Amino acid sequence: MYETRVLSGMRPTGALHLGHFHGVLKNWIRLQAEYPCLFFVADWHALTTDYEKPGDLQKVGADMVIDWLAAGVDPSQATLFVQSQVPEHAELQLLLSMMTPLGWLERVPTYRDQQQKLADKDLTTYGFLGYPLLQAADILIYRARYVPVGEDQVPHLEFAREVARRFNHLYGREPGFEDKAKAAVKRMGTKKARLLNELRTKFLEQGDAAALARGQALLDEQQNLSRGDGERLYGWLEGTGKKILVEPEALLTEASKMPGLDGQKMSKSYGNTISLREEPEVVARKVRTMPTDPARVKRTDPGNPEKCPVWELHKVYSNQERKDWVWNGCTTAGIGCLECKQPVIDAINLELAPMRGRAQPYLDDPTLVKNIIADGCEKAKRLAAETMRDARESMGLNYA
Ligand code: TRP
Ligand code: SF4
Repeated sequence: MYETRVLSGMRPTGALHLGHFHGVLKNWIRLQAEYPCLFFVADWHALTTDYEKPGDLQKVGADMVIDWLAAGVDPSQATLFVQSQVPEHAELQLLLSMMTPLGWLERVPTYRDQQQKLADKDLTTYGFLGYPLLQAADILIYRARYVPVGEDQVPHLEFAREVARRFNHLYGREPGFEDKAKAAVKRMGTKKARLLNELRTKFLEQGDAAALARGQALLDEQQNLSRGDGERLYGWLEGTGKKILVEPEALLTEASKMPGLDGQKMSKSYGNTISLREEPEVVARKVRTMPTDPARVKRTDPGNPEKCPVWELHKVYSNQERKDWVWNGCTTAGIGCLECKQPVIDAINLELAPMRGRAQPYLDDPTLVKNIIADGCEKAKRLAAETMRDARESMGLNYA
C-alpha cells in the first residue's frame, strides 16, 4: 500500500552541466530502473530566492527537462513533472503550516546560512522561511520513501520527517482508533492476525526493529486492505495512530567530485562548467584554454599533475594506463599539455554525443516535452490527490 517511491526535485537555474550529470542525474538514472520515481522541476523553490527576477520559469524548466532526457532519464520509467502544475503541494504546505512550530523553521541551518551567503538578496521573507516546509510537502504528498539529495539537504529531510511524525501524532488519532485497528487485524484471518500481534508486541516491548520490518512486509502483502485500514494498521503496528504521512529517508548522493575547468568543483557560479549540450568545438576550446601546472612554462619544463586541473579530469575520464601515460609524460616533460588534454576532450565529447542525439528531437519539436510534462503532471496529481483526501479529512475538512 505504501509503494517504495523515490522522489527528487531540482531547481530550474539554467543549462545543466557535467557536474549535474556525474553528481545527480547518473544516480536518478540508476534509481529509475529500480523504483517508481518522481522527478520534478522545483519552480516555486526557485522563486523563494529569485523572486525579484524570476525569468521565464516555464522555458527554463522545460529546458531542464530536456537536459534530463538527454542524460538518459526515461519518461516511460520515471514520472517527470513541474511543481507549480500540481498546486496540491501548496495546499499541503498550508495545512502543514498550521501545526509547524515557527522555531523548527528558524532552526533549519540553511535558513541563516543562505541569508548570509546570498546577502545581495533580501531573504527575510515568509516564502524563504517556509521553504523547507514546501519541500516537506513536496515529499510527503507522494508518501515518498527515499529522497536522493546531497549532504546540504539532509537537514531538510530530517525536518520533513519531524513534520510527518507530528502530523500523524495530531491527526492520526481518530475516535475509536484502537477498535478500528483491531477489527482490521481480525479481517486478515486468525493466523496472520496472531503473527502480526506477536510482531507488534516484540517491536513495542523490546524495540525489535526486525519484527517491525516483518510486520510491515506482512501488511505489504495484503492485497485487499482499504486505504484507511492500511493507514491504521501501519500506524497501529508502530504503536501510533493512523499513518497518514510517511517519514521519508534521505538517499545520500555522494557529493559531486566533478572538477570544473579551473580545478574547483564544477559550478555555474564559478563559471567553470561544460554544459550537457555544449558543441564539440566549444568543449575542445574550453579544455585547451584550461590552466595547467603553472611551473610548466615551457614545453621542456617538467610538471606536477597534482598541481594541474587537467589531471583532475583525467581521474574522471582516463583508465590506469592513460593516467600512467599522463603522469610519466608530465613529470618528465615527455608530453606537452595540449597533447595531454586531447584524450580528455575526446572523452567528454564521447560522453556528450549521445546526449546531443537524445536532445535533438525535443529541440526540434517542443510539443514532445510539453506532452511528457503534461502526462507526468497528470500522474503526479492523481497520487497527490490520494494523500490530500486523507490529509484534509483527518483535519476535519471533510466536504464530500
Ligand atoms: N531544495 C532542493 C534544492 O534546492 C530542491 C527540492 C525541492 C527538493 N523540493 C524537493 C529535493 C524535494 C528533494 C525533494 O536542491
Ligand atoms: Fe597538466 Fe597534463 Fe600539462 Fe601535466 S602535462 S601540466 S597534467 S596538462
